[in-house]
Amino acid sequence: MKPSVIARYLDQYVIGQEDAKRILAVAVYSHFRKIARARADGVRMAKSNVLLIGSSGTGKTLTCETLSTLLDVPFVTAEATSLAHTRYVNEEIEAVLERLVDKAGGDVDRAGSGIVFIDEIDKLKATDGEQRGSSGESVQHALLKIMEGAQVKLRSGAYIDTTNILFICGGAFVGLDEIIASQTHGYGFIATQRGDNQRILDRLNTRVKPTDLFTFGLIPEFTGRLPIIARFHDLTREMMVRIMVEPKNSIYNQFREIFSDEGVELAVEARVFEQIAELAIEYKTGARSLRGIFEELITPILFVVPDQPDIAAVTIASLFSEPTYSRKAAPVNAPLAR
Ligand SMILES: Nc1ncnc2c1ncn2[C@@H]1O[C@H](COP(=O)(O)OP(=O)(O)OP(=O)(O)O)[C@@H](O)[C@H]1O
Ligand SMILES: [Mg+2]
Repeated sequence: MKPSVIARYLDQYVIGQEDAKRILAVAVYSHFRKIARARADGVRMAKSNVLLIGSSGTGKTLTCETLSTLLDVPFVTAEATSLAHTRYVNEEIEAVLERLVDKAGGDVDRAGSGIVFIDEIDKLKATDGEQRGSSGESVQHALLKIMEGAQVKLRSGAYIDTTNILFICGGAFVGLDEIIASQTHGYGFIATQRGDNQRILDRLNTRVKPTDLFTFGLIPEFTGRLPIIARFHDLTREMMVRIMVEPKNSIYNQFREIFSDEGVELAVEARVFEQIAELAIEYKTGARSLRGIFEELITPILFVVPDQPDIAAVTIASLFSEPTYSRKAAPVNAPLAR
């Protein structure tokens, strides 16, 4: 599957985040090319695990889950925080791989070229004042081994080889921007010349460097195993409006279907989506609060509509005004008034 095909599929569900979608599409594509090469002529290439960085609610988990529905490979998600909250990290990691094998229908080889998404990886940082060897750090060490490629023994007694498993890690990394800003020293030792492409230089300069992640609190060996970094941008108001309306499974489409099952046409005017986006930006949880606000608006309407079969359409013009109901014309076979 070509990167452009993967990206176009993601476009149907994930609004914006074009860079991240492309980076992921290429990463997944080249990962499977590498595996195919290794199978064909034994040439092994180092794998490139991916790190996704972006504020809460900007689409990191959504993108990975969407990716998994497209690719015909076993895919599992794990929370770094739950790995950090156990004394038995290795068992917990084994359980993740165990789930991957389950997803592969028990086929250990197929699981061996699956994808593992580890969310909230930033929560593994060593916090100030905590001594070395904190739980977060020891989880990083434990993850290192399997990301690198190891033979892990499963409950069944079989071994799973993690060499060809693609690891995607995600996290919000709150405070990373300040670190990047405070550590930017121009283009380092790359001498720039006139005629160099300013856009490319800018991109090099704003990219997240392993040293930034180290300052943030990830251990160097760990950041070293995540060579590909994709950033998810904060959502703008326009993007939030599109999120509510555009995706196939958008919240607006979902509710239009529910109303349509009642024989009612739901129409929400553009202005309402803008108002909701405005509120969501204030709540600072990315797109996550959109659904809640929208449902709050719809709930009282959905409460009355099923009781009133003569309602034909509902129109909402503003978050701050009552909806207007239009009623069906009297049925033609109704007895005529004399
Ligand atoms: N770019 C986007 N396009 C479409 N929907 C989005 C987008 N970003 C967020 N959403 C919506 O917001 C919800 C939450 O997003 P998601 O779970 O991907 O956030 P996240 O980036 O993983 O955040 P966190 O760091 O808190 O885990 C999604 O289920 C989706 O409905
Ligand atoms: Mg997430």
